[in-house]
Order: sequence, then structure tokens, then C-alpha cells
Amino acid sequence: MFKIIDIKEIGERTKEMVVEAPLVARKADAGQFVVVMVDEKSERIPLTIADFDKEKGTVTIVFLEIGYSTKRLGELKAGDSLAHFIGPLGKASDIKEKEGAMIFVGGGVGIAAIYPIARKAKQLGNEVISIIGARTKDLLMWEDRMREISDELIVTTDDGSYGIKGVVTQPLKDILEKRKDIKKVVTVGPAIMMKFVALTTAPFRVKTIASLNPIMVDGTGMCGGCRVDVGGETKFACVDGPEFDAHQVDFDSLMKRLAMYKKEEKIAMSCRGE
Ligand code: FAD
Ligand code: FES
Ligand code: MG
Repeated sequence: MFKIIDIKEIGERTKEMVVEAPLVARKADAGQFVVVMVDEKSERIPLTIADFDKEKGTVTIVFLEIGYSTKRLGELKAGDSLAHFIGPLGKASDIKEKEGAMIFVGGGVGIAAIYPIARKAKQLGNEVISIIGARTKDLLMWEDRMREISDELIVTTDDGSYGIKGVVTQPLKDILEKRKDIKKVVTVGPAIMMKFVALTTAPFRVKTIASLNPIMVDGTGMCGGCRVDVGGETKFACVDGPEFDAHQVDFDSLMKRLAMYKKEEKIAMSCRGE
């Protein structure tokens, strides 16, 4: 069992949970994820390791209460335990050395997911420019944490309720037009956002990495549920990724597959009376 040390609301329908998981924390690296099960029979939920403390033996996850299983997870209290907290899974981030200036583009809960990657880049001596965006101010999270590890931070909201009104790709394009020394762009967020980040960076020929979030089941390369098309090849995001060359990813098929179980997800929610 994995004890919940802390759980708090950090935005609209968004929770931050700190879990006691010393073995996961000891091995955790930026870009990896865990699979969480509330009880022995519940759905397996893949969630990014948003932070970890190797000394305290804790791992932090941040999740949007979007459906049946994440709502159930969000109902737990500090002191409760999770049946399973499997990880760290997936390959660690591609950021492994000092390369120069990099741009990190995070959207929605993808902001918490990009945080440890950007932090690692900063620790390695890279210049970190971060662009974070959400639909509205209430869905924006971890601005303070991102500011701490960024040389420059740009905030956007679709509705203009905070920061620059608009989407993350506009400031991204502005920076790429001004600066020819950007070595890499890393993006985590909704598939549609990552698709447009890739389309924005392609004409500038800047290496772009996207952390993909297809539907996963086991998270260990056995079920094939997480298959994605990258450069015409089938890859399993859970073991070959989750990071891939964004210019090679077929985002349209990813989005189609993400919507595959909409009917069943609706039925599950109706069991909650919602
Ligand atoms: P449902 O109603 O079942 O689903 C809502 C939508 O979520 C679906 O339409 C589908 O697009 C997606 N989804 C459903 N089941 C899965 C599944 N097993 N795997 C992936 N997507 C699914 N979300 C966060 O809020 N924070 C994170 O840090 C985060 N990190 C992720 C890292 C990885 C590697 C992956 C693959 C996904 C991550 N997600 C993250 C997405 C998260 O797993 C889904 O939102 C969650 O599983 C939805 O479950 P549900 O039952 O509450 O919602
Ligand atoms: Fe089963 Fe990746 S989740 S193979
Ligand atoms: Mg579900």
C-alpha cells in the first residue's frame, strides 16, 4: 500500500497528490510516469511523475479530474492509501547535457508534467525559456515553480483571463523568429496543442520533442494499447517513449485513439450519477 501524504486542490478540477513511494522516488527521473490503482479492482491510471524527493521517499502527481477514475482518485484524503503505485515507467527525458537555449511548452496539466524536465535542463546549465498556457486562469498551475527554474517565463490563457491572451504557439513563433540559437523545443500537453507546437517549429527546423499520452493499460509494453505512429513506424509509448520526435508523430491518429472509449467512459460516469 502507498500512503497519501498530502492532497490539495491547485486549480479547477486539478489535484496535487504527494505519495509515499520510496522505491519509485529512488529511481525516478524527469519524463517518467507511474501507473496508479486506487484499489485492487480499479482502472490503471497513467500519470506523470511531476516531482520526486529521493530523501523523503515521496512522489508528486498532478491530475485533472476528467472522468470516473481520476474523480475517484481525487476523493481520497491524506492518510488514505493507494493499492498500487507502479513505476517509474517509460524512458527518462532526452535532456541529458548542456546544449544551450531550450524552450519548454506546457499546456494544462502538461505544465506539471514538463516541470521536472525543464528543471533538469536548468540544473544541467541550459537556458530555459518556458511558455505555459491554459484555457483559463483557473486551470493554470505551478506558475511559481516554473518561474523558479526558468530564465524567462511566458504565460498565456485562451480567454485572456491571465497573461497573454491566446495560445502558446504565438509566443513560441515570436521567439523562434527572433532567436536562431534555440537548440530544442520540448512540449507536454493536450495532443492538439502538441500537434500545433510541432507545426510551428517545423519551418524553423528546431528539434522538437513531445511527451505523448495515448491510452495505456499495463504501461510495460505488453498490451499494445498505447501504440502510436512515429515516422511511419508503430511505437509503444510506454516503453519506447513517452517522448518522441514531434515532427514524426501522427497526432491525428493519436487523437482518434484517445477518443476510442468515449461511450464506455460516459457509461462509467453515469454510474456516479454524473
Ligand atoms: P476517462 O473518462 O476514462 O477518460 C477521459 C479521457 O482520458 C479519455 O477520453 C482518454 O482520452 C483519456 N484516457 C482514459 N483512460 C486512459 C488511460 N488508461 N491512459 C491514458 N489516457 C486515458 N493526466 C493528468 O491529469 N496528469 C498527468 O500527469 C498525466 N500524465 C499522463 C502520462 C501518460 C504517460 C499518459 C499515457 C497519460 C497521462 N495522463 C495524465 C492522462 C490520464 O492518464 C487520463 O486523464 C486518465 O487515465 C483518465 O482516466 P479517467 O477514468 O478519469 O477518465
Ligand atoms: Fe500496454 Fe504500452 S500500455 S503496451
Ligand atoms: Mg477511465
